[in-house]
Amino acid sequence: MVLAYIVAAGMSKIGRREESSREIVAEAFEEVTTVVDPRDIEAVYVGVQSEVYEHQIMYGALVAEALGLLPREAYRVEACAAAGALALHTAVMAVKSGLVDVALAVGVEKMTAKPTEVVTDALMAASDIVDQLSGVTIPAHYAMVARRYMYLYGATEEDLCEVAVKNHKHALDNPKAHFKKAVSVEECLKSKPVATPLKLLDSAPISDGAAVAVVASERAARRYTDAPVKVLASTVATDTLSISQRDDIVWPTAVWEAAQRAYRQAGLAPSHIQVAEVHDAFTINEILMYEALGFAKRGEGYKLVREGQTYIGGKIPVNPSGGLKARGHPIGATGLAQIYELYLQLTGRAGRRNTGAEVAMAVNEGGVNSTAVVHILAI
Ligand SMILES: CC(C)(COP(=O)(O)OP(=O)(O)OC[C@H]1O[C@@H](n2cnc3c(N)ncnc32)[C@H](O)[C@@H]1OP(=O)(O)O)[C@@H](O)C(=O)NCCC(=O)NCCS
Repeated sequence: MVLAYIVAAGMSKIGRREESSREIVAEAFEEVTTVVDPRDIEAVYVGVQSEVYEHQIMYGALVAEALGLLPREAYRVEACAAAGALALHTAVMAVKSGLVDVALAVGVEKMTAKPTEVVTDALMAASDIVDQLSGVTIPAHYAMVARRYMYLYGATEEDLCEVAVKNHKHALDNPKAHFKKAVSVEECLKSKPVATPLKLLDSAPISDGAAVAVVASERAARRYTDAPVKVLASTVATDTLSISQRDDIVWPTAVWEAAQRAYRQAGLAPSHIQVAEVHDAFTINEILMYEALGFAKRGEGYKLVREGQTYIGGKIPVNPSGGLKARGHPIGATGLAQIYELYLQLTGRAGRRNTGAEVAMAVNEGGVNSTAVVHILAI
């Protein structure tokens, strides 16, 4: 099978940034220029969520201009918070098709220039218009999912908070994370309500940031490194925009479907995955991911984190970067921030977060699990 390879990855510091998208992207890109000569890059695919934050579209040309890559082929892909991984998927397709030898996947979002209510409204555009007009925000959607899950399986608010405690702990060792602050279950339980039962510390923050990955064909990869990261699988699946149209709101069908296809593409099973970065936009979602990816049985995902199995050093470390919760969630950049972490993990560059993993999985989703993008990487 023809494979694509990741030969370099970069990420800006995530958090509340003064700079514009152009500058934040340039910061992430600088990290890959120590490995790849920018003149080698033939195409640029950019994941961005919204034009609202900077009153800007045309991010393809904007990024190519900011990185000195004009007049390359460059365009934006869109799937709300799955845009970053979709940019990687597009780069992988371009390379595997043989059209280009070296492509750059970019994810960026500059959100904090706008107040929370404007961001909330921009994010709501990812849900069905009927839900939007009914005033159901994204946190409110996840709150309904959390309530239903707790009712069906007996998970508690403490269990949800355990995800936040773990991810904040992991981020303590991530110098580029939005939050470097440990939190306890008690602090999480007492944090302010966002959409009950979800609280501030169950939620990913509003962040600025960018991440990039250079994808190369086998022939080109050899120019840069003897040990490139292999992209064993890159899949996309979809589900209804409105969760009201789903038979079962606690089963993320798109994630399950994309993961099943990814396992088939890679010829692997859940037990082969040694580290994962998953989409913990709200703590409940990380628990749903454990089940949909096959790390836990249905209805038992919360027990994995309760037993400490998803910490670094546990059976299957999840979100060693700190995840969306603590590394931060600059929407369009998140999918590639996950890939950046896995690139560091697989090449042994994650410092105190190193897991020694040789096979890794990334799951990025947009809307309320309406688009799921899964990658399996290996060294
Ligand atoms: C949770 C949320 C509503 C909080 O926004 P807010 O109430 O306006 O909070 P503020 O930005 O005023 O921040 C208040 C304080 O809480 C902190 N904070 C904000 N969000 C936080 C979070 N998610 N976790 C931990 N701390 C957070 C801020 O750093 C700030 O701390 P400080 O007072 O020490 O500076 C907002 O972050 C949010 O909407 N998150 C979800 C985003 C989302 O839906 N993403 C898409 C998912 S796919």
